Amino acid sequence: MTIERAAEPFLLIRNLVKEFDGVRAVNDVSVAINKGEIFALLGSSGCGKSTLLRMLAGFETPTSGSITLAGQDIVSVPPYQRPINMMFQSYALFPHLSVWDNIAFGLRRDGLPKDEIASRVEKMLSLVQLTDYAKRKPHQLSGGQQQRVALARSLAKRPQLLLLDEPLGALDKKLRERTQMELVSIIEEVGVTCVMVTHDQDEAMSMATRIAVMSAGRILQVGAPDEIYETPNCRFVADFIGSVNLFNGSVAVDEADHVIIDTPEGRHYVTHGITGTMGMPVSVAVRPEKIALQTEAPTQEQRAKAVEHGYNCVQGLVSGIAYFGNETSYHITLDSGMVLKVSRTNAARHDESALKRDQRVYAWWDGADVVVLTR
Ligand SMILES: Nc1ncnc2c1ncn2[C@@H]1O[C@H](COP(=O)(O)OP(=O)(O)O)[C@@H](O)[C@H]1O
Ligand SMILES: [Mg+2]
Repeated sequence: MTIERAAEPFLLIRNLVKEFDGVRAVNDVSVAINKGEIFALLGSSGCGKSTLLRMLAGFETPTSGSITLAGQDIVSVPPYQRPINMMFQSYALFPHLSVWDNIAFGLRRDGLPKDEIASRVEKMLSLVQLTDYAKRKPHQLSGGQQQRVALARSLAKRPQLLLLDEPLGALDKKLRERTQMELVSIIEEVGVTCVMVTHDQDEAMSMATRIAVMSAGRILQVGAPDEIYETPNCRFVADFIGSVNLFNGSVAVDEADHVIIDTPEGRHYVTHGITGTMGMPVSVAVRPEKIALQTEAPTQEQRAKAVEHGYNCVQGLVSGIAYFGNETSYHITLDSGMVLKVSRTNAARHDESALKRDQRVYAWWDGADVVVLTR
């Protein structure tokens, strides 16, 4: 009988700590990243994302902890000897060099043979679709094209690990969205493993295979974009990713397949069990798009089981309406004073059921569409 060893993760970070003047910028981070992943470190400014990335690149030395890449401890390996490349923002291109020479720069410095350099540069140019722009200088390119040159330059050295720090920060919104997709398809085509840092949740959600949500030097949750969004593991993550309504209350019924939570806004029926105890303080998290709004009480057909019991249904006054074209976002002030956020997709051009300010409405949701948070 052969004993199969569990596949070693490609990049393994264990108990990593970085202190600056006794303050922990990165605080006991452990995470395993697989080959071929696009892994995003997401968090607000100052939470330690760049410091973590810089330790991977070798620009910072960890205070303690370990980093192994393909089974090899890299903490003591100097940056230029690591099979890792960090892509800087577009303005890090050499302005006096052509696109071709920018991409060739690192290869020449490494002393690669001329024809090898030429063949790699040509391949990279075609990969990022800039073959016709090889002779141009960076200032003769658009922001998105400059970004692609920077990516080509990073990939030309065939790193095993590509690091991106806020890669699209310099681009405007429309261009950023397009470039996000381009970057992902290029990275996937090359098959390089990628760790990226961003404070922009849309960027993380649209590009990453998995996301680590960071706060104050720690990783709070790691998961695929839909896991992070639909099953956040704590109030911070629920609130940080997207928009959420948190009903604070306590556990009234605790069964294996459902729980009932009492809050000042009424009873909540939730169709999953929790690890918790009776009476324990918890929050019920409900996303704005999971809530139905109507002027009449929910009908028999509409009623989910929970609503039949009179749960998961609140009433209030429409106190704010924001129209975004594709969707409309409503604020409903409940009798308890809580302001509920609800969003509705504008699927038709003319909505007969459009709500007006100060209208009294019912808001309800399915017990399967919420998450109970215990911390
Ligand atoms: N070289 C440094 N010296 C002292 N403090 C630093 C240094 N680099 C980062 N920090 C501090 O570490 C914390 C995390 O910074 P950083 O990793 O850049 O955050 P992020 O990239 O998430 O915005 C911040 O409080 C920052 O001021
Ligand atoms: Mg940063």
